[in-house]
Amino acid sequence: MRVLVTGASGFVGSNLVPALVEAGHDVVAMTRDAGSYDAAEGVDVVEGDLLDPSTLPGVFDDIEAAYYLVHSLQTGEDFEQRDREAATNFTAAASAAGVSRVVYLGGLGETGDDLSPHLRSRQEVEQLLGRGSYELTTLRAAIIVGAGSISFQMVQQLVTKLPVMVAPRWVYTDCQPIAISDVVEYLVGILEAPEAAGETYQIGGPDVLSYREMLTRTAAAMGKRRLVVPVPVLTPNLSAYWVDLVTDIPRSISHPLIEGLRNPVVVTDDSIEAVVPVDRTPFRTAVERALEGEA
Ligand SMILES: NC(=O)c1ccc[n+]([C@@H]2O[C@H](COP(=O)([O-])OP(=O)(O)OC[C@H]3O[C@@H](n4cnc5c(N)ncnc54)[C@H](OP(=O)(O)O)[C@@H]3O)[C@@H](O)[C@H]2O)c1
Repeated sequence: MRVLVTGASGFVGSNLVPALVEAGHDVVAMTRDAGSYDAAEGVDVVEGDLLDPSTLPGVFDDIEAAYYLVHSLQTGEDFEQRDREAATNFTAAASAAGVSRVVYLGGLGETGDDLSPHLRSRQEVEQLLGRGSYELTTLRAAIIVGAGSISFQMVQQLVTKLPVMVAPRWVYTDCQPIAISDVVEYLVGILEAPEAAGETYQIGGPDVLSYREMLTRTAAAMGKRRLVVPVPVLTPNLSAYWVDLVTDIPRSISHPLIEGLRNPVVVTDDSIEAVVPVDRTPFRTAVERALEGEA
């Protein structure tokens, strides 16, 4: 199948592209800057900016299926508006070109008023992509553990730099991290499953952990002992500024992610297992592999 990967240069995209080639697909990688994209052998590269519709004609030519792996967190406060525009432009261009399947990797989290702007935006993108004339499949994931994952780097840097962490109540929120290798297996497998067309699935690793456990277990995998002390009066806003002081993660990315920590992100429906069975990677193994990759 001829498959377009948007966000091919990103953390998930760069892991997905070789796996699609390995699975026998004819892969086209989309990026805004082809000059800085290091394409693997056999991968075609196309330039396109989802925020600039004039760059999109031709991008979807002969494409049967496309992956949507794009977000605009790095652009700052108006990321919700930019992600709205990017998804709308993608939907129009892919529909006009007659693409038949689209796979979107979005975010886990119950729908509701209290959803953080980042998670709300990921769900809005899902709705906008759903307006296309193709069949959409959405996979929703919490934090993905792997080398190059900004959210995992944030955890790793906190653990590396702080022997004792004071943290707000969100350290008790549940989360279901997933290894990048498992995410890639689901993303590749779902394309081969016609029954997944039009469906939304939740994906997660085998371990449900509070953020506190995630921090202490990451520390243990690094051979460190860390104390996480919950302080009820610390607001998520304050803790975001504190993360700015300790890590080098751009605040445009860290702040929306930290705001999202108040929302539990766990799998409540495991119907994906009947469609794409995956032997899921334990958190400890995922962390060890990520640390090896980062090194
Ligand atoms: N990382 C996680 O822990 C995690 C967890 C759950 C869900 N997800 C989802 O997985 C997907 C990919 O995330 P990621 O972590 O791989 O992100 P990432 O590493 O930050 O990559 C983002 C990608 O978006 C592309 N992009 C940004 N603006 C664009 C635009 N205007 N037009 C075209 N491309 C644009 C960039 O491509 P160029 O710069 O090359 O143009 C880049 O490859 C997202 O949908 C995210 O919500 C990620």
